[in-house]
Amino acid sequence: MTEAVTLGVAARAVGDLPGPRGLPLLGNLPGFVRGGVPHRTLEAWCDRYGSTFRMSLGRMPAVVTADPSVVARIQRQRPDEFRRSSHMTGVLDEIGVHGVFTAEGDEWRRLRKMATQALNAAYLRQYFSTIATVTERLKRRWDTSAGDGRSVDVLDDMMRYTLDVTSGLAMGHDLNSLEQTGDGLHRRLPLLFPEFGRRINAPVAYWRWFRLPRDRRLDATVREIDALVRDRFAEATRRMAGGGEPANFLEALVAPLEGESPFTHEEVFGNVLTMLLAGEDTTSSTAAWAIHHLAENPDVQERVRAEADEVLGDSGFPADPATVGRLGFAEAVVHEVARLRPVAPFLAFQPLRDVTFDTEHGPLLVEKGVPVFALMAYGARRDLDRYPEPEVFRPERWLEGRLPRESLPFMPFGGGPRFCPGRNLALLEATIVVSLLCRSFTVEPDTSAGVVEERMSFTAYPTNLRVRLRARQ
Ligand code: HEM
Repeated sequence: MTEAVTLGVAARAVGDLPGPRGLPLLGNLPGFVRGGVPHRTLEAWCDRYGSTFRMSLGRMPAVVTADPSVVARIQRQRPDEFRRSSHMTGVLDEIGVHGVFTAEGDEWRRLRKMATQALNAAYLRQYFSTIATVTERLKRRWDTSAGDGRSVDVLDDMMRYTLDVTSGLAMGHDLNSLEQTGDGLHRRLPLLFPEFGRRINAPVAYWRWFRLPRDRRLDATVREIDALVRDRFAEATRRMAGGGEPANFLEALVAPLEGESPFTHEEVFGNVLTMLLAGEDTTSSTAAWAIHHLAENPDVQERVRAEADEVLGDSGFPADPATVGRLGFAEAVVHEVARLRPVAPFLAFQPLRDVTFDTEHGPLLVEKGVPVFALMAYGARRDLDRYPEPEVFRPERWLEGRLPRESLPFMPFGGGPRFCPGRNLALLEATIVVSLLCRSFTVEPDTSAGVVEERMSFTAYPTNLRVRLRARQ
């Protein structure tokens, strides 16, 4: 018996919801992926059809919702009532990225404990010296760019920065991509996300029958990381055999929590790769967008600079997490960037049984397995009471005491038991980058590569983003 019948209320079926007209066989898939900005398409449809509407991906019906109460219920009732989209996790699992992000049920509970432990505040304090080393390298790289008058490829620099931080944290490995000029894993790893996005949105899973050159490149990169993880795991096992506390995520996986069975190589590999990917792309795009908005807004730059001068004294960047905590305006810049340029603007779920939601169209019955896309930041640009002048970049709005940092309709890090365990690390890194940049340089936009645009593959990111730096005297 469905929940709708139990409640004695006539619930609408998904097919009765308003929504865009689809093409035969393909449904709304072409419209959804056109222009490389599916999230903006969903937001435009939301403006048109209301906070909860239907679409179809191929022949599969799906629900899209920006309704805060529906999104909150989905987030809270995981992993028992809702799971991540099996289509998406299937694509990731097939590549070997099976870890805390794709796991469900008891497996997820076990992995989540490890991930949370590896990213908690006490651990980040202990890990701060690695962040400081990587930040010093970033400063040297920017000093050189400013000295040579060279324009900076912002997303590339931010990918190197976040990759170096994350690979240290995930497996105690110093990739040092910030100081490398040639080819290396740092050039190949960032290609993985676009490949995931492409496969997730592909109308046919052709790679199960034949491999294109890009699929072979993907396989080779996964094998390369697998070899690196094996090597690092052997080292971690030797270190942990000598006693002592785990100093990175991989070492924590060597010594599972009490009562837990040892992790297999597939589990170790899948989880380390999950950390590398989850920690790199998301944070690099957020930090890159922050630099873009600073370049476009010299007055905001000036205010970050004044705060950094006061808090940091003679040093170029914060020496510990407590000092980062005093950079309130720099952190507000990061929150404002997450609002305007969310890197995970929607998440895809599926109910594990038939469920009924209260929506603006009345009760809605969503059958087990139907994909539900939740828009995580739509309201942050539509709710005029909470966010006046929503299109304006105005970090001060986060310091006026009215806005809770993260609450629906704005949840850039997700919510409920599966909210992002890397949130604190991401905020720490992005706040450090923002203050370092303004403390040591003035930033100007450089549009020589073209107009800065937004694209989305697995996550949303900027294109053509270049700036010029001038060292402050
Ligand atoms: C600005 C940066 C980041 C953003 C916007 C972001 C956003 C998100 C979002 C929206 C989710 C899904 C949450 C949900 O389902 O409710 C997520 C999950 C996750 N994130 Fe992040 N993230 C960021 C940085 C990081 C970092 C630095 C790490 C670790 C190094 C990380 C590790 C993870 C993991 C492991 C999950 C899966 C959690 C689970 O399923 O239990 N993230 N993140």
